[in-house]
Amino acid sequence: MVGMNLNDQMQGSGSEWWRHAVTYQIYVRSFADADGDGIGDLRGITSRLEHVRDLGVDAIWLNPFYTSPQHDHGYDVADYCDIDPLFGTLADADAMVERAHDLGLKVIVDLVPNHTSNEHEWFRAALAAGPGSPERDRYVFRDSTDGPPNNWKSVFGGPAWTQVSDGQWYLHLFDSTQPDLNWRNPEVGEMFVDVLRFWLDRGVDGFRVDVAHGLFKEESLRDQVFATSEEPVSGASAGESMVERTAVDEPMWDQPEVHDVYRRWHEVLAKYDGDRMMVAEAWTQSAESMARYIRPDEFSQAFNFAWLLAPWSAEAFAKVITGTFEAVGHVGGSPTWVLSNHDVDRHPSRYGGGAVGLARAKAATLTMLALPGSAYVYQGEELGLEQVEVEPEFRQDPSWFRTGKPGRDGCRVPLPWSGATPPFGFGPGQGQPWIPQPAEWAELTVEAQAADPGSTLAFYRAALAARREFSETAGEEIELVDAGEQVLSFRRGPVTVLVNCGTEPVPLPDGDVLMASGPVEGALPPDTAVWIG
Ligand code: GLC
Repeated sequence: MVGMNLNDQMQGSGSEWWRHAVTYQIYVRSFADADGDGIGDLRGITSRLEHVRDLGVDAIWLNPFYTSPQHDHGYDVADYCDIDPLFGTLADADAMVERAHDLGLKVIVDLVPNHTSNEHEWFRAALAAGPGSPERDRYVFRDSTDGPPNNWKSVFGGPAWTQVSDGQWYLHLFDSTQPDLNWRNPEVGEMFVDVLRFWLDRGVDGFRVDVAHGLFKEESLRDQVFATSEEPVSGASAGESMVERTAVDEPMWDQPEVHDVYRRWHEVLAKYDGDRMMVAEAWTQSAESMARYIRPDEFSQAFNFAWLLAPWSAEAFAKVITGTFEAVGHVGGSPTWVLSNHDVDRHPSRYGGGAVGLARAKAATLTMLALPGSAYVYQGEELGLEQVEVEPEFRQDPSWFRTGKPGRDGCRVPLPWSGATPPFGFGPGQGQPWIPQPAEWAELTVEAQAADPGSTLAFYRAALAARREFSETAGEEIELVDAGEQVLSFRRGPVTVLVNCGTEPVPLPDGDVLMASGPVEGALPPDTAVWIG
């Protein structure tokens, strides 16, 4: 048995809404399309927010909607203070925020500080001004006559350096259209404080900070050293590379200087009312390094990707839970659980796909929702959507173009809302979305599932409602319970949670079944989770 107590850390946290919030992630281009161009937009989101409210979450996080040439679907920002015409206007953004607030939902927007688009005015100026100029010093340009300046690889595959016509090279840890900013230049920090204030003044409640562990690189820009001769995959983000990462020596990630940036941003946010928050996307190497981002004067949350990376195994889940609470406990933070997002294969597919994959996914979700801390739900998981095999002609992920591997488009297919044929109400009329939806999604639309008490949507609504009720009294302490090798079990307040990761049914403890991820009669079947109270 392992006991964990967060009570001390929760002192004085009464108004920190994000500590226990469930946030729904909206992938803007795939949520709902109001103007009928096949790509989701802000007016589409505003028109469908009731679905999110009815689900029973507390907040939404929107992927980037800023002006962008869309080489990485908006993570290549050309203007941080305007909306891409694909998605609407600033007035549409204001209306979306207002509607969300009216529905009781907080709004978190995405901030992309590691790199800009190569079409950002700063990068254009850097190219025009030439080597040695102050304009080039906002990015990481280097001379090298003998190939790229070091051996770093892009997270999306291939070298992390591109040469420009005068012979210099610029660093891009992602696509060549995403040049890395030079955070050692104070102008860069000033620019982002202005961007934060711009959105805070417009009423947003928080920021999801992209590649939060990347802003500073070791100053020497030394070569990365690899333990094996395998093709290096730098400690990363972005799809498969996150799962395959092997490097332990990472001069481009998680440098101590990044934390000064977040201390400054924390102060900026603290000047605003309403507990504005920040959540870090930081694919660090350990729970301890993740927890450094949520020290009291830095981020409010950091995604706990260890949970998402864990295989379907009681032992692996228990290890992640124990390690997470230990690490966040040391810094007075609380954990942030997530199973799916726009960068990884959807969790029903990761757990094997089909009926088994979905059963396991629901069980993992129910377990996540029982744990103290906050949780994120990615659009479409409430419908039980699986990863889609996207035909090559529709793929748009830059990693597909750089490596020839399928990439992340399969978790970004537009949502099915209603009707029997594509576009399933995603947009008006019969116009088809940017990625075709599978015909089988006819059974998975929001409309179809809302009418079916046995649907995945009904399960999510019930689980989120049960969580709200249960977390009011359950406290912040959990205790792992020994229920055999194949079963993860813990107690939180009056409730005992069990997940059967084995192949045989296991007996249930005494008590009432408060919530179950699948049918439970007398015993707990494989691939099922239950809350007993
Ligand atoms: C983050 C985003 C991912 C994006 C990358 C580069 O990992 O989640 O979608 O491609 O950063 O900005």
